[in-house]
Amino acid sequence: MSEDLVLEVEGLRKTFHIGFFRKRVEAVRRASFSVRRGEIFGLLGPNGAGKTTTIKSILRLIFPSEGEIRIFGRPAGDREAAKRIGYMPENPYVYQYLKPLEFLDLCGRLVGMPLDDRRHRSEVMIDKVGLRHAVDRPIGKFSKGMMQRIGLAQALLHDPELLILDEPMSGLDPIGRKEVRDVLLEQRARGKTLLFTSHILSDVELLCDRVVIMQRGEITSEGNVHDLLESTGHRVEIRLSGASKTLRDSLASRSAIVEAGDGYLTLRAEGQQAVDEILRISSAAGARLDAMIPERQTLESLFLQDAGR
Ligand SMILES: Nc1ncnc2c1ncn2[C@@H]1O[C@H](COP(=O)(O)OP(=O)(O)OP(=O)(O)O)[C@@H](O)[C@H]1O
Ligand SMILES: [Mg+2]
Repeated sequence: MSEDLVLEVEGLRKTFHIGFFRKRVEAVRRASFSVRRGEIFGLLGPNGAGKTTTIKSILRLIFPSEGEIRIFGRPAGDREAAKRIGYMPENPYVYQYLKPLEFLDLCGRLVGMPLDDRRHRSEVMIDKVGLRHAVDRPIGKFSKGMMQRIGLAQALLHDPELLILDEPMSGLDPIGRKEVRDVLLEQRARGKTLLFTSHILSDVELLCDRVVIMQRGEITSEGNVHDLLESTGHRVEIRLSGASKTLRDSLASRSAIVEAGDGYLTLRAEGQQAVDEILRISSAAGARLDAMIPERQTLESLFLQDAGR
């Protein structure tokens, strides 16, 4: 195993049997990926794709039907490896009547943190996740977003090397999402490794170094976020005015015409060479360049394209 791989998932499969007739549900059919030290890795996919099942298998909260998982080079479920992981579940199971600091103290005790350490880290975390105003409230009275924040504080409490977060942004308002993004980026800057699931693709785009997209239990896309978005090629929309009919006909053979009006022309060009050529011809023909807008593929369009397959 490479020193740089913090997590390796190979051929993961998980089948549930439900109901009296033991109907089979193939939650994860075939998933292989690895997470490198120091990166933010996104596990994306629509509802029911198998993300939470994958995460629970990694944490050995459930047993996979097949496949191999190694964390820090050790088999999943290893106690030493577990101490180096922080986990934020999709629905944090918290004790309703505890106040935030009492809850964090309990979590710290469960991972074997000494008293002083627990006290100090709990206070730091409360400020980090912006819950200082709510220290006197029992967690049972928290809003969804506040619950997410206490879940994050709990995951970060023992300063783990690997953070596994299931939907850390859900239920947060835009300010809350920005705050959580900043916390995650700070963790990466400190050399931590992060694996998280999300539906909020703009956050994923802003945060992740690499992603996998999961559909019905299978991985359909994988890679560096930048490469995935670039793979569709470089497309640019070009808007011209003062374009003659001759120019229009000449350009039509080189690019797609999106819209043509009285002297106005909107084109879509693919690749730098085509763009250069269109600009040269238009300028020679006396047309004016009104705008040039790069069309970037978003993670959302990639996601929808994958889903359509
Ligand atoms: N304990 C279980 N028993 C039976 N089926 C289950 C169980 N847990 C998950 N499943 C099924 O496995 C599939 C994948 O579920 P999973 O929770 O992993 O999806 P997900 O990608 O996390 O979805 P979401 O985005 O909604 O959180 C679903 O069809 C779900 O109904
Ligand atoms: Mg889930």
